[in-house]
Amino acid sequence: MTYALEVEGLDKSFGAAAVLRDVALTVEAGSTTAILGPSGCGKTTLLRLVAGFDKPDAGTIALGGRVVAGGGWTPAHRRSVGYVAQDGALFPHATVGANVGFGLPRRARTRSKIAELLEMVSLDSVYATRRPDQLSGGQQQRVALARALAREPELMLLDEPFSALDAGLRANTRRIVADVLAKAGITTILVTHDQPEALSFADRVAVMSSGRLAQIGTPREIYSAPIDVPTAEFIGDAVVLGAHVESGRARCALGNIAVTANGVRGDARVMLRPEQIEVTSDGAGVSGTVVDVEYLGSEMLLGIRLDTPDGVLPERVTVRRFGATPLAPGDRVGIRVLGEAVAYEP
Ligand SMILES: Nc1ncnc2c1ncn2[C@@H]1O[C@H](COP(=O)(O)OP(=O)(O)OP(=O)(O)O)[C@@H](O)[C@H]1O
Ligand SMILES: [Mg+2]
Repeated sequence: MTYALEVEGLDKSFGAAAVLRDVALTVEAGSTTAILGPSGCGKTTLLRLVAGFDKPDAGTIALGGRVVAGGGWTPAHRRSVGYVAQDGALFPHATVGANVGFGLPRRARTRSKIAELLEMVSLDSVYATRRPDQLSGGQQQRVALARALAREPELMLLDEPFSALDAGLRANTRRIVADVLAKAGITTILVTHDQPEALSFADRVAVMSSGRLAQIGTPREIYSAPIDVPTAEFIGDAVVLGAHVESGRARCALGNIAVTANGVRGDARVMLRPEQIEVTSDGAGVSGTVVDVEYLGSEMLLGIRLDTPDGVLPERVTVRRFGATPLAPGDRVGIRVLGEAVAYEP
């Protein structure tokens, strides 16, 4: 199979600092991949290598089956790659039209072609004569995307393109961009450190940590079966408890619960997502006491200290509760677990 992008054994250091270590990634044509990782883990460095702005120290990069780095070198302008930089990077003194036109061959820089590109990102052609500072942040991001689309790339690299936008505009711009790229059938890699953004935007998520790709999978796999506890905690809220695992069950502070063992036996840790833990008023399951309440509008986060079953140390869990009757510290509650926990080595 020919992949839109195939990265193997990629290493990159700046001076003595190893920034990327043995990175391997394959991306299918027409798919959307999110690279998710904390600040400084190497996300931009990886995109810059793929775009051809930097050379790797070791490893290979192939685009559409053609090696472009490592055992050959294709410069950035000869790669069919669009790149929207982290800061958008529009030319501040040029009009919107000139910015978009920059991505086009000189003879194709017509008013109608530029209007067409602006329309693709849901911007009216009247904006063409404005300067970037006369646009909102979201509009500027879309101009940067239009400029990248002008080159008709096979692969689009988006480096945190929505990070400057407020929550509402961000979700809206994200939908527009996802739509444009899907319609044009452009393979897309989105870099973000926003978990919901990665999970909602992409077909596949690659979790990056200290220059390595810790896990690659569908959003569902990454969220419900993270490879280890740090990845689980990075991807979302996690309840992690000491446990004893045996034949598909885990004995822990939440009782004797179903578990995906992943080959783990005996002493272990188990991980649950807060929405798997249900607060009951009928006294079913394990009981506990509410110790704190964090009000978040549509939901509440409840800290609950569990009553201790025999031989298990007291533990505290955080539970998510939507729109139900308010609970206060000191209230007694029952707790029931939904679905399966995931087991890890202790
Ligand atoms: N040109 C450079 N020279 C020296 N060090 C660099 C250079 N570019 C990046 N680094 C270092 O490499 C590491 C990874 O940087 P990178 O920009 O790839 O991180 P990132 O994951 O994109 O982070 P962020 O989410 O903050 O954008 C950082 O420690 C950074 O300081
Ligand atoms: Mg970056």
